[in-house]
Amino acid sequence: MNFEFTEEQLMIRQAARDFAQNVLKPGVIERDEHQKFPAEEIKQLGELGFLGMMVSLQYGGGGMDAISYVLAMEELSKVDASASVVVSVNNSLVCYGLEQYGTEQQKEKYLVPLAKGEKIGAFCLSEPEAGSDATSQHTTAIDMGDHYLLNGTKNWITNGGSASTYIVIAQTDTAKEHKGINAFIVEKGMPGFTVGPKENKMGIRGSDTHSLMFSDVKVPKENRIGEDGFGFSFAMKTLEGGRIGIAAQALGIAAGAYELALQYSKERKTFGKPIAEHQAIQFKLADMATEIEAARLLCLRAAWLKDHHQPYGTAAAMAKVFASETAMKVATEAVQIHGGYGFVKEFHVERMMRDAKITQIYEGTSEIQRIVISRDILK
Ligand code: CAA
Repeated sequence: MNFEFTEEQLMIRQAARDFAQNVLKPGVIERDEHQKFPAEEIKQLGELGFLGMMVSLQYGGGGMDAISYVLAMEELSKVDASASVVVSVNNSLVCYGLEQYGTEQQKEKYLVPLAKGEKIGAFCLSEPEAGSDATSQHTTAIDMGDHYLLNGTKNWITNGGSASTYIVIAQTDTAKEHKGINAFIVEKGMPGFTVGPKENKMGIRGSDTHSLMFSDVKVPKENRIGEDGFGFSFAMKTLEGGRIGIAAQALGIAAGAYELALQYSKERKTFGKPIAEHQAIQFKLADMATEIEAARLLCLRAAWLKDHHQPYGTAAAMAKVFASETAMKVATEAVQIHGGYGFVKEFHVERMMRDAKITQIYEGTSEIQRIVISRDILK
């Protein structure tokens, strides 16, 4: 067992840390306040190669491993979870699926600009009545010979307004249930495709979440991903990697909140000494540090399994459920350590507490992760 990072992994972590501190941090409170998408910051992340970091060099990506991805996601999420979710969705839910299961033509046309960060992608599975129960797709794609006719509504779509390339999951044959589901590449601007209003969210307010409406959208046959009926497996396989990204995002929120609380506890004095010298605070800091380290190890283990081509779905679910619960707990404690200051925006931790909540919900709720884990251990 080797707990050391390579030179390259350490360089990527440092680059992400520098970017987060120097570029993301200055405007993060304002973007949260005004629900402003970090468009310029995402453009720069694309230029630095973070949006397609795990895509092979051949398709314009960074050719990096999943361990590097976890390290980068942690550092970006310590500062701005609204920006880091864009990195996660583009890498894990869009680029990964296209590279693994797309045709050569799909990779050239869609993957290359996504990997280079010239375009942003979105993954469209959730519907008004299909969140946790992902097989209950009401969006339909009817085979019309040379194209599919797509109709339906998708909900809670991250990058919904800012994306150019959308992977849309739809039912092509209701009688076949989950075996009659397919995944399609849909472009912004295709006639009949409209983006609904932006959601007014509790957390990750800088990220761009929308409903999408499809009304008789003609999707060319060559835009289907994989064999007929592959869509549900495609979504599940893609989400396994996505859960590593969101686990690392949760880890970053926890670590960011902890670092601020640690620093504050050394500066703030009560009863004649820094609050870090009170055992009530020391015990909180010790628990926070321990849980963050456990979450980090779970994230890295899931990434290591992926890098070594071993099954990683259960490990990813374990990382996500533990890291997201740690994020919620640690961010809440960070607010508590800051006292009244923690309740105002300037000190960042209240935003982190709000941002942490979504990590227990998207890419499968904590309950869904427990279903995935228990099915594996009981099988
Ligand atoms: N890999 C490959 N295939 C898989 C799979 C996996 N990980 N998991 C399931 N499947 C296959 C099964 O083998 C089965 O196929 P067969 O019938 O051929 O054997 C089929 O899929 C159906 O499986 P289940 O019977 O297990 O399906 P289920 O409906 O009972 O439950 C579930 C599966 C785990 C609960 C699943 O529905 C699930 O993960 N739900 C949560 C969905 C989710 O994560 N949504 C997030 C939306 S995306 C998002 O949030 C992005 C964002 O904005 C950031």
